[in-house]
Amino acid sequence: MTVADKGTENEYDIAEPHAAAMIEALRAFGYNIQTAIADLIDNSISAGAKNVWLTFFWDGSESYVSIRDDGKGMTEVELIDAMRPGSRNPLEKRETDDLGRFGLGLKTASFSQCRRLTVRSRAVSHKSGTRRWDLDYVNHTGEWRLLRSAARGSEARLAELDEMEAGTVVLWECMDRIVGGAKTDDRKAHHRFLEMVEDVEKHLAMVFHRFLERPHQLKIWINGLAIEPWNPFLSQEKATQFLPEENLYIGSDKVVVQPYVLPHHSKVAQQTYEKAAGANGWNAHQGFYIYRNERMLVAGNWLGLGLKRDEHCKLARIQVDLPNSMDSDWSIDVKKSKARPPLSVRSDFKRIARLTRGKAADIYRHRGKVIARRSSESYIFPWLKKVKHGKLFYSINPEHPLVKEVLSVSKEHREVIRALLRLIEETVPVQQIWLDSAENLDQHSQPFEGVPSKEVREVMMQVYKALIKNGLSSTDARRRLIAMEPFQQFKELIASLGE
Ligand SMILES: Nc1ncnc2c1ncn2[C@@H]1O[C@H](COP(=O)(O)OP(=O)(O)OP(=O)(O)O)[C@@H](O)[C@H]1O
Ligand SMILES: [Mg+2]
Repeated sequence: MTVADKGTENEYDIAEPHAAAMIEALRAFGYNIQTAIADLIDNSISAGAKNVWLTFFWDGSESYVSIRDDGKGMTEVELIDAMRPGSRNPLEKRETDDLGRFGLGLKTASFSQCRRLTVRSRAVSHKSGTRRWDLDYVNHTGEWRLLRSAARGSEARLAELDEMEAGTVVLWECMDRIVGGAKTDDRKAHHRFLEMVEDVEKHLAMVFHRFLERPHQLKIWINGLAIEPWNPFLSQEKATQFLPEENLYIGSDKVVVQPYVLPHHSKVAQQTYEKAAGANGWNAHQGFYIYRNERMLVAGNWLGLGLKRDEHCKLARIQVDLPNSMDSDWSIDVKKSKARPPLSVRSDFKRIARLTRGKAADIYRHRGKVIARRSSESYIFPWLKKVKHGKLFYSINPEHPLVKEVLSVSKEHREVIRALLRLIEETVPVQQIWLDSAENLDQHSQPFEGVPSKEVREVMMQVYKALIKNGLSSTDARRRLIAMEPFQQFKELIASLGE
């Protein structure tokens, strides 16, 4: 028998899923509350909503969450269909701006968090309709019975929709996974609930930032407060590097890749830098950011390309834009939280990743110039890196003007100073510095970071005097200072010397 041939009744059995078992199984797609809510907001955006209002209401085990939007809404017939698990075939071609794919999200996301899902929706010039899945009822009856009304006492939680021309409200009640059987006055549970709301806010600020950034496109409100977008690329900052954008093709579908190298923390305001770290910190948010129809699926990951997360690469963030016509190529999942590059683009992705990682590491390497190789002539460094008996060793540069000046004292004092310098060289805490910076590069301050310019100037003045003493003109002495770590960062101060 071929697929096209539907066969006769004696050739097959119907093996329908058991309602009770199936509806419980639909709870286990692996969502958390953040990804579940994002999946519902996808639906609101696809329905053209300009506003999404989230309500998180704490009342112990009676707590509820609602998600209301002013999108185009659904007629009653459409609502019944929307409530059906598998409401649309994933193979169907979708509108280019549709964020859906599987015909499952509304159900799987909701069931992952609650046992009672009620949806009320209204399309323009239609009456509103209400439908409810109650997992206990389906379990009890063993049938896919979609109830036609809200639960007793829940009417008020849906009522705001009745004031609107069109829109949809999704209501989650009996949230066993979030609040369980907590009592209303359980302070710890209440605190956890509030923390969860914060996590949701951070997640939504991130995954929908492109929508939230454009004026008049989308606003998401949590208990009445608008969410501010979180942009991972600091693209407004002067010091952010935009590496060349690349277009990669799979058939006629285009993937747009825009790599960024974000600025070193000394180049942006502290608050900006801290915010840019993201919910999980700088190290966790490096790599590719994958967007499907501008909705973020992946928030920084090296996508199994064999590249490790590395403290030195944390400023590398690469934006990737996909259309929704490539879902199967990229193995998009129901939760919209994963994407895997197809074989045909992996080598390009690896190349772009290496390039961006290299540029990001350069930012720290440049800072590392404070220690010079011996061959470096034009710059004067206080420290030199040497190899002794095959081992690395850091020594104080005896040619440094200030060191020379200090050693030009009487023999007796010179011996003490030499001993001190030697002791410092022999005990540079290399291991400790290495360990600390492996954990967090930004923990180390830059030379003279946060030091008042008066103090910097005092140190600089001593070097300047030493140079003058060595016979340099004041212009030449200033020129030498500019070529000296770390004074080249303080050009204006150098200019003020000798005045
Ligand atoms: N807020 C909403 N406003 C209008 N229509 C909606 C809304 N939410 C869901 N729908 C309708 O219900 C259908 C089913 O939604 P559901 O999230 O289950 O699947 P999907 O969005 O089609 O695909 P996916 O499983 O990838 O999310 C949608 O295709 C849409 O037609
Ligand atoms: Mg959906």
